[in-house]
Amino acid sequence: MSAHATESGSTGDPWGDTVLVDFEDGIAWVTLNRPGKRNAMNPALNDEMVRTLDALEADPRCRVLVLTGAGESFSAGMDLKEYFREVDQADDPSVQIRVRRASAEWQWKRLANWSKPTIAMVNGWCFGGAFTPLVACDLAISDEEARYGLSEINWGIPPGGVVSRALAATVGQRDALYFIMTGEPFDGRRAAEMRLVNEAVPAGRLRERTRELALKLAGMNPVVLRAAKVGYKMAREMSWEQAEDYLYAKLEQSQFLDSERGREKGMSRFLDDKSYRPGLSAYSDE
Ligand code: COA
Repeated sequence: MSAHATESGSTGDPWGDTVLVDFEDGIAWVTLNRPGKRNAMNPALNDEMVRTLDALEADPRCRVLVLTGAGESFSAGMDLKEYFREVDQADDPSVQIRVRRASAEWQWKRLANWSKPTIAMVNGWCFGGAFTPLVACDLAISDEEARYGLSEINWGIPPGGVVSRALAATVGQRDALYFIMTGEPFDGRRAAEMRLVNEAVPAGRLRERTRELALKLAGMNPVVLRAAKVGYKMAREMSWEQAEDYLYAKLEQSQFLDSERGREKGMSRFLDDKSYRPGLSAYSDE
């Protein structure tokens, strides 16, 4: 599909209300869509995102997912009214359990080990709970002027959910504790400097740069990409012995599942045809 095709809200799709999905050349642009509330994540959005991720996992139009926000915000974090205050007022512990579960379910449990590559495109405000899906995405590109903040301390609470855990997976301790403890906001350039995101680019280049990266991933062998990213994320938590055994198993799994026979082709290009040297550039079919 070469032309940009907008298919948000098609009949039967689980998105279309608080989440929009546009398909373009193998990219699913997933947009958190509560711009009037700066895309604060309320229970309805969390439920819709769980269903959207499940649907896109099986959708051949999606080879790579880009997560972004509508309007001037990526996400202003958890919805202080609907996720916190109204749930507190419900006076029913089962309500809190349910809304927390849906939130965790998409923001890290499904997203962190999703079977397809994921990129966060941070186009504006990114606060509190929004750090969780940001870090759960494999890669992240930010507008240089996007504003980030671990604002929780200003609300009289420490960061909740797995926000601090997500920070520990990406940012060094000095930066993490500085921003957790002071609640000071910072911009996209600083986010890139501390490696919370891969790159920060001017607003005018944000979509173009993200699209370029997404198209590169969309053109790669999906089985090998999945094994490589999930393998990395899982191995981080293992002992070296466990990691070695697991990663060899992952390698063999990817060979077994890979109908494109990437390993054999790669070896043959280097050893037999002598047509390609991976040390000089990444492989491209073009
Ligand atoms: N939860 C619930 N509502 C939120 C929200 C949040 N996290 N963030 C923004 N909103 C709502 C505002 O209440 C306002 O609603 P209203 O129009 O019904 O009054 C609307 O979104 C627009 O917000 P506003 O503050 O007027 O926009 P702004 O562009 O001037 O400022 C922010 C944007 C993101 C700087 C500001 O809204 C903000 O600081 N939000 C809180 C961010 C935060 O601390 N998140 C962590 C939560 S754990």
